[in-house]
Amino acid sequence: MILTAHDIGKTLVETLRDIRFDRLFILVDNHTRELCLPLVSDSLQEAGMPFRLITIPSGDENKTLSTLQYVWQSLISGEATRHSLLLCLGGGMITDLGGFAAASFKRGIRYINIPTTLLAMVDASVGGKTGINYGGLKNEIGAFHLPLHVLLCSKFLSTLDRENRVSGTAEMIKHLLIRPDDGTALSTAEELCESDISSERMGELIADSVATKQLYAEQDPTEKGIRKALNFGHTIGHAIEELLLEKEKPVLHGFAVGWGMIGELYISHIREGFPLDKMRFFTRLLQNLVGSCPITCNDYETLFDLMRHDKKNLGDSILCTLLTDVGEVRIDCPLQKDELFESIDFIREAN
Ligand SMILES: NC(=O)c1ccc[n+]([C@@H]2O[C@H](COP(=O)([O-])OP(=O)(O)OC[C@H]3O[C@@H](n4cnc5c(N)ncnc54)[C@H](O)[C@@H]3O)[C@@H](O)[C@H]2O)c1
Repeated sequence: MILTAHDIGKTLVETLRDIRFDRLFILVDNHTRELCLPLVSDSLQEAGMPFRLITIPSGDENKTLSTLQYVWQSLISGEATRHSLLLCLGGGMITDLGGFAAASFKRGIRYINIPTTLLAMVDASVGGKTGINYGGLKNEIGAFHLPLHVLLCSKFLSTLDRENRVSGTAEMIKHLLIRPDDGTALSTAEELCESDISSERMGELIADSVATKQLYAEQDPTEKGIRKALNFGHTIGHAIEELLLEKEKPVLHGFAVGWGMIGELYISHIREGFPLDKMRFFTRLLQNLVGSCPITCNDYETLFDLMRHDKKNLGDSILCTLLTDVGEVRIDCPLQKDELFESIDFIREAN
């Protein structure tokens, strides 16, 4: 269940009172231990709910097998059983790795996600995809394992830096583009990009956004069909993300998805008749949000190769999610090399 909390400590204690478990573990990284744990630990102590803390180093470079082994080992030394409960308190790195630790420990224990970054709130913490990076590949090893609950609290965002906010905002714009249109997608997208949203309003926008992720994830838990709607912007976006990582100029996921969406909106317009005025609107908005894309004319072939190796493909075709309009999704669209090159031109020209 996804719950929105005003007082996260109180909501957590109430949620835990309804669950039977023997031992409670909280997984944090060094940042969320300092900045986010205090919002829940006092309430747990007052409620007489002891927990063991497992702290791992922050950053995607630590979403590795050795960190996972450390979490398994901490669960073992804390005498965790199949009836124990793991709380994952952090961004997508914590919810992905913690979720996979929960999926794999003693063939699966229950876990609750308490996402603390915007990206994790609207995306990573929901839908049950868990895993680690392996052999230089992102999310190469993992499992589908749904959290028992996801507890959302926008108060955590007060300490988040601008870049991480932008990264989450880009995924929220994607959700507006793919959800059934109620006529508010454009105005909400504009509102999201304003800097003075109140915490309360942000809480509402997050709840709406996460409902879109939930809508697609629930219909198709293991991504055989319509869940691929969530991949809009990701075929080109992932390739840009990997290219920039290879060049040792890494960017946050949402930035790459923002550029990917600009390219895929362009292909959607050319091939699927996505309306020109809306394409221009979202291109301008995304460009203002994520800034210029640092790719050059020498990168096209590498980007093409990276797209060919995307795990979303079937055989040799590059498959992509496109839109015929806001909320009108077409999955598994095969893309040609020249279309992709044109779209990369468009991303660069939008700069
Ligand atoms: N499972 C999925 O469906 C899914 C979807 C999208 C992304 N992901 C994964 O999510 C990860 C990215 O998530 P992310 O962007 O949240 O990154 P992250 O978890 O690495 O967090 C980014 C940084 O923010 C810090 N942080 C967390 N909460 C904070 C707070 N409230 N205040 C200040 N700092 C805070 C973290 O310590 C870290 O340094 C990637 O590993 C990606 O693969 C998974």
